[in-house]
Amino acid sequence: MIVLGFESSCDETGVALVCTSRGLLAQALHTQAAMHEAYGGVVPELASRDHIRRVIPLTQQVLREACLTLKDIDWVAYTAGPGLAGALLVGASVAQSIAWSCQKPAMGIHHLEGHLLSPRMANPKPEFPFIALLVSGGHTQLMQVNGVGDYQLLGETLDDAAGEAFDKTAKLLGLGYPGGPLLARLAEQGDGSQIDLPRPMLHSKNLDFSFSGLKTAVLTRLQKNIPNWKSGQPVTGQWAADLAAATQTAIVDVLVSKSVQALNQTGLKRLVIAGGVGANARLRAQLTSHAQKIGAQVFYPPVHLCTDNGAMIAYAAAERINAGLEPKAPRQGFNVYPRWPLIEIDPSMVA
Ligand code: KG4
Ligand code: ZN
Repeated sequence: MIVLGFESSCDETGVALVCTSRGLLAQALHTQAAMHEAYGGVVPELASRDHIRRVIPLTQQVLREACLTLKDIDWVAYTAGPGLAGALLVGASVAQSIAWSCQKPAMGIHHLEGHLLSPRMANPKPEFPFIALLVSGGHTQLMQVNGVGDYQLLGETLDDAAGEAFDKTAKLLGLGYPGGPLLARLAEQGDGSQIDLPRPMLHSKNLDFSFSGLKTAVLTRLQKNIPNWKSGQPVTGQWAADLAAATQTAIVDVLVSKSVQALNQTGLKRLVIAGGVGANARLRAQLTSHAQKIGAQVFYPPVHLCTDNGAMIAYAAAERINAGLEPKAPRQGFNVYPRWPLIEIDPSMVA
């Protein structure tokens, strides 16, 4: 069966075609990063309007690439939440309209389920059960993934997400938006051991995280080291690179330590990294070496599948269909869920 999937929860318009037996057929993505850069963050109304502009040309593009037409589609999937309400509504209404006009069923997908399952598109494919470290701009969670739709929350952030910690620190350093990759690039030129930053909750007995204190610590260092420093003022030189490296090291240390703790606690030997921060090279290197020490294997989706994309939404729907977990009865109308905890996932609710 062929699934046409849409992602529009934030600032990326993603469209993809996935076959339930053959996998990814085609995908297209437009990122709005440059548009939001001038504002230092995502402007929801601009995001919605841009999704409207992009979604149909991207759909035409994937159909062309896969040599398919709308008549070949069996299911339409879209991100139903969580995310920006207006942005979600664009993807949801386009998906539902296409499904209605083709007389095919539509399925709302939880954005984080897309991230959790996307590593299974890669080769080697992680078999269930596995631990997933979900690290995005909005979420930092450790989940035990027993199967499609069977997710157990082991720990999560109590305040800022790891990606948010990257983004906010980058903003303090005047690096621009989105900050994560920019901070990581600057960190490559720095020495993280030169500046001592806290590793919040590193030694707590549970698997929860907290990153807001780290941002405050960076702020304090900036105020102390740079006379008349103003937030967002570009900070340059070796000290800035060292501060970026120290921040990255502190975030990565906590993520690695908690992931290893989750593997030890559950006895599982497979760790899957999902979400945008999964693109971070230091995180990848550290996780691989620490997991090796305890005989565990780490799976990374290719970087282009780590950040938001349409393939993960179409693929999650395909996994649901293959597992017999697709919504069975069509519903009148549809809704989006800007706030939607993954553990309350119930696909029949959003179909
Ligand atoms: O999963 P994602 O694309 O969107 C959300 O659902 O949030 O994740 C975006 C986050 C942003 O915070 C971005 O700064 C971060 O992932 N990110 C990175 C890197 N690439 C993206 N953080 C650190 N290092 C990177 N290389
Ligand atoms: Zn995401």
